[in-house]
Amino acid sequence: MALNYDKAIIANAPPELLESFCGVGNPFSIAKLSPGDQVLDIGCGAGFDMIVASEQVGKKGKVCGIDLTEDMINRARKNMALAAITNFEIHHVDTEEIPYPEQTFDVVTSNGVINLSPQKEHLFKEIFRVLKPGGRLQFVDIVLKKELPASLAASPDAWSQ
Ligand SMILES: C[S@@+](CC[C@H](N)C(=O)[O-])C[C@H]1O[C@@H](n2cnc3c(N)ncnc32)[C@H](O)[C@@H]1O
Repeated sequence: MALNYDKAIIANAPPELLESFCGVGNPFSIAKLSPGDQVLDIGCGAGFDMIVASEQVGKKGKVCGIDLTEDMINRARKNMALAAITNFEIHHVDTEEIPYPEQTFDVVTSNGVINLSPQKEHLFKEIFRVLKPGGRLQFVDIVLKKELPASLAASPDAWSQ
């Protein structure tokens, strides 16, 4: 894993955090966050991108993560504690509703998650609901360039790989 992430962050990250990373790119290569930004990471997994974001927004900023999986949330909380980060919160979600009021965030990020959503249009509506005016969405993901064979498209195993 490198993906143009800051080498110092990778060097200082606990090995179990790097092993749990399952992003598909680097959402911060699109633009750096600004000090003081309020940031939401959709599908925060074990928290690597939250740690990167926290470093960029500094103590006046805040990083919020949401994830569908309790196990990933527990890992993310543990990793944030190991990294001595305090300007964060993480919430478990069990739907694609984002549990924040409208116009809360300067930036929404996501890494390899939106492709997993069965309700992409709804998820994008939710993202733009919680973004402040002039805020931005910066995400990396995988896209299909051609239709999948029906057997693959209907396979939960293939969907999760
Ligand atoms: C491919 S992993 C990426 C994790 C993390 N972004 C990273 O870079 O390591 C997908 C994560 O998104 C979560 N997830 C999938 N769909 C989601 C949704 N609609 N809302 C929140 N989390 C979701 C999964 O539980 C999993 O932790």
